[in-house]
Amino acid sequence: MLCAPRASLPALCVIAGLLLGVATPALAQDKPDPTVINAGKDDFEWQCAPCHGTDGTGNGPMAKQLIKAPTNLTGIAKNNDGTFPFWRVYRIISGKKQLPGHETFQMPEFWKRFTGAEYAFGFLPPHVRVLMLTHYLETIQEE
Ligand code: HEC
Repeated sequence: MLCAPRASLPALCVIAGLLLGVATPALAQDKPDPTVINAGKDDFEWQCAPCHGTDGTGNGPMAKQLIKAPTNLTGIAKNNDGTFPFWRVYRIISGKKQLPGHETFQMPEFWKRFTGAEYAFGFLPPHVRVLMLTHYLETIQEE
């Protein structure tokens, strides 16, 4: 037995213990922080839900007025081989990345809004708001 008292390689037992006993539960507990996610959700409901819908699926009240339907934001990971493209989404929200071929892009440039009047009225810095929004979107991805 590897970890019997007479085992010749005690270091192995320590490593095995770390891998099995410590690393696994630590990974399982790696959940998003609710303060960040709830702040992102609040901003989402205010800034994004009119088009993308409160559940993010693209059925907001303004959706029908747009030339191009707002994307179903819960399918981003699914459409990207199951991985949520965090920084791509961050850049899209901040308006730093235009979607190629999307001539009718009708999404407001939030960077301008977040650095403009809203920032002057004491909101968090724009990158913090966009980060929280991106983290929130990551949590609403369908399996
Ligand atoms: C005025 C309507 C409107 C508002 C408000 C809006 N969006 Fe959009 N959004 C769109 C439309 C329309 C598209 C699709 C653009 C296209 O395909 O050309 C889109 C696309 C996106 C995409 C790209 C998804 C992909 O993978 O292609 C993301 C991410 C996104 N929106 C996030 C947000 C977030 C976060 C907010 C709030 C901060 C927001 N949107 C607010 C209309 C809106």
